[in-house]
Amino acid sequence: MHTANALVLGLLGSLALASRPLSSNELASKGTTPALPLGLWKEAKRRRRHDDGARGPWKESQTGQLPFLSRPKPSASCQEHYFDQLVSHDPHIPSTTPNETWQQRYWFDATFYKPGGPVFLLDAGETDGEGRLPFLSQGILRILSEATNGIGIVFEHRYYGKSFPVSDLTTDSLRFLTTRQSLDDGAHFARNIVLPGLEDIDIRAGGSTPWIYYGGSYAGAKAALARKLYPDVFAGGIASSAVTAAIEDYWQYYEPIRQNGPSDCIDRLVNHTSLIDSLLAFEQPALTSALKGYFGLGNVTSDADFVNALAIPLGSWQARNWDPSVGSTRFFEFCDTLTANSSSVHEVDLFQPAQLAALPSLPKDPRKALASFAAYVSYVREHVATLCPPDTAQDDCFGTDEYSGDELDDYEWKSWAYQFCTEWGYFIGAPPDSKHPSLVSRLLTTEYTGKICRKAFPPGDLNSVPARPNVTAINQYGGFNFSYPRLAFVDGSEDPWIYATPHSPLAPHHGHRHSTTSEPFLLIKGGVHHWDENGRPSPPEPEEIQRVHREDVEFVRAWLEEWREEQREKERKRRGRWRWEGEGRERSRARWT
Ligand SMILES: *[C@@H]1O[C@H](CO)[C@@H](O)[C@H](O)[C@H]1NC(C)=O
Ligand SMILES: *[C@@H]1O[C@H](CO)[C@@H](O)[C@H](O)[C@H]1NC(C)=O
Ligand SMILES: *[C@@H]1O[C@H](CO)[C@@H](O)[C@H](O)[C@H]1NC(C)=O
Ligand SMILES: *[C@@H]1O[C@H](CO)[C@@H](O)[C@H](O)[C@H]1NC(C)=O
Ligand SMILES: *[C@@H]1O[C@H](CO)[C@@H](O)[C@H](O)[C@H]1NC(C)=O
Ligand SMILES: *[C@@H]1O[C@H](CO)[C@@H](O)[C@H](O)[C@H]1NC(C)=O
Repeated sequence: MHTANALVLGLLGSLALASRPLSSNELASKGTTPALPLGLWKEAKRRRRHDDGARGPWKESQTGQLPFLSRPKPSASCQEHYFDQLVSHDPHIPSTTPNETWQQRYWFDATFYKPGGPVFLLDAGETDGEGRLPFLSQGILRILSEATNGIGIVFEHRYYGKSFPVSDLTTDSLRFLTTRQSLDDGAHFARNIVLPGLEDIDIRAGGSTPWIYYGGSYAGAKAALARKLYPDVFAGGIASSAVTAAIEDYWQYYEPIRQNGPSDCIDRLVNHTSLIDSLLAFEQPALTSALKGYFGLGNVTSDADFVNALAIPLGSWQARNWDPSVGSTRFFEFCDTLTANSSSVHEVDLFQPAQLAALPSLPKDPRKALASFAAYVSYVREHVATLCPPDTAQDDCFGTDEYSGDELDDYEWKSWAYQFCTEWGYFIGAPPDSKHPSLVSRLLTTEYTGKICRKAFPPGDLNSVPARPNVTAINQYGGFNFSYPRLAFVDGSEDPWIYATPHSPLAPHHGHRHSTTSEPFLLIKGGVHHWDENGRPSPPEPEEIQRVHREDVEFVRAWLEEWREEQREKERKRRGRWRWEGEGRERSRARWT
C-alpha cells in the first residue's frame, strides 16, 4: 500500500528530473503524507497529462516514480480482457437491476501452461492493474507459472483502473466497494472464467484445476481472506506484506523507518521535528510565519498542513526496492542531506537567542545541529515547496480541506480513501504517547489525518461513511493471528506496514511463530514492501530474494501435490460412497422384493 504522499510523488516524477519531484501516484499512495493534499495531487496529475501529451502516450517517465506505480509499456503478448462480473454479491446491497453485471479487467499469460497445471491469480489491489503486468512477465506470476506449468492472471480490483461497476464515485455509487464484495469478485471469477483462446480447457475453480491466490499489501490481506473464506475455490494463498490487522491509528507506520533508517539521520530528524513543534507551540504569528517562510512554505495557512508537507520525503522509504530499476533511492538522498557535514550551510539567523534558550532541549552540538537543520530546510525548499507551481496559492496545493471530485478518474485518490475510512483505518501520524520519539509532527493527529473521511464523502441516500472505520469487518478473521493451511505469509523486516501484518511486533505470538510447509512464515531481512512480488531473470536477484522465490516455488509445489492427493482421496470416497449406496440399494431391493 501507499500513502497520500506517495501518490503525489508518482505524478510529478515525469517533470523536472533534476530535482526529481514527486508524482501524483506517489502522493496518493498509502504512507506518503499522513493526509493527502488533494490540490497538489491534482496539480501533479494535470502536469502528467500535459507531459504525456507532449511526449506520446507510452513514453516512460523513468525516474522519480514509486515502484509498480509507473505506467508500464503495453506488451503485445499481453492483451487486456474483460469478465462479466456481478455488481453486487450481497443481497443486502442490491444492484439497481437483479444480477446486473459490469466489465472487470484482467490479463493472463499461458505461455508455460500444460494441462493439469495450476492457475495463479494475482490481485492487483488498490491501483491500476496495468501497473502489475511486470509481475506477469518476469515477477512472481512468471516464476510460479514457469515452475509448475501454470497460468498467471492479473486481476484488477473493482473501483480501480478500468474496472468500475458504477459510472461515478459519489458516496452512493461507492456502496459496492467493500473488501467482501471484491473478494466475492475473485471467487466468482475463479468459478466461471473461460479464458479467450483456451475455450476448450476447463480451468474453473472447483474442478480439477488448483487456484492459488497471490497478493501484496492490502491485496496480500485479501489473499489470506480469500483462502480462509473460499477454501474450496482457492487451494492456496500467498499473502505478501499482508496487512491482516486493520488499525485505526497506525502511527507505527514510521517505526520501521525510525528503527532501521541511518541512525544519525533519524536522530537529527526526530530533533528537528521536535524543534519545529516547539516553535509552533509558542503560537507567535511572527515566529510561525518566519519558520514556514524559511522552509519556502510561508503561505501555507494551517500549521498542520505545513508539517504534513514536511512528511513528504518520508514516503520514499517505502519506495525502496532490491531492484534499482523499480526502486527509489530518494530516502537516502534526503538523509545524506541531513547528515552531510556541509560547510556551505549558512548560519541560521531564524532564531533569537532567547527563543533558543526557551526550547525544551538544546542540542549538545548547536552549530552542527543548526547546520543540519538548515540543510533540512534547503531540502524542503527544493524538493517539497517546488511541488506547487508559482502561480498557484500554496493553500491550494498543500491544503487538506477540499476533497471534491466524483469522476471515475478520481478513483486514484478516492477509492482507497473510501476503503480506509470505512474498514481499514491506517490513519498515519505521530505516536499518541508524547514521549515516544516521532519522525513527524505531533500536530498530525488522527483527527487531522482522518479529515478526508468527513470531507470527501457527504452522506448519500443509500450510503454514508461511518464516523469511524469498522475495523472488526477485517479483524474478525484473525488479525495478527491470521493462519490457515496452505496460506503463506511473506514480509519485509523494514516494511512500514510490518506492524499490521502477522510478523508485527504487536502480534501475541511475536518471535514464536514457526514456518511450516503448509503455513510458511517468511521474513525477508532488510526487505520493505512485498519484495517477493517482482523478479528479474538477469542480472541474478540478490541472494535473499532468490531464497524467498525458491521457497515460494517449493511450498507451492508441495501444496499442489497435497491438493491433488486430497482430490484423489475425495474421488475415492465419492466412488466408495456410490458403491456403498449402490450396494445398500441392492440390499434393500433384495429385502423388499
Ligand atoms: C440471478 O442469478 C441467480 C444465480 O445464477 C439466479 O438463480 C436468479 O434466477 C437470477 N435472477 C434473475 C432475476 O435473473
Ligand atoms: C537529539 O536530542 C536529544 C535530546 O535532547 C539529544 O540527547 C541528542 O544528542 C540529539 N541528537 C542529535 C543528533 O542532535
Ligand atoms: C505568498 O503570497 C504572496 C501574496 O499573495 C505572494 O506574493 C507570494 O508570491 C507567495 N509566495 C509563495 C511562495 O507562494
Ligand atoms: C561528518 O563528520 C564526522 C566527524 O567530523 C564524520 O565522522 C562523518 O563521517 C562525516 N559524515 C559525512 C557524511 O561526511
Ligand atoms: C462492524 O462489522 C462487524 C462485522 O462485519 C459487524 O458485525 C458489526 O455490526 C459492525 N459494527 C458496526 C458498528 O457497524
Ligand atoms: C491470538 O493468539 C493469542 C495467543 O495464542 C490469543 O491469546 C489471542 O486471543 C488470539 N487473538 C485472536 C484475536 O484470536
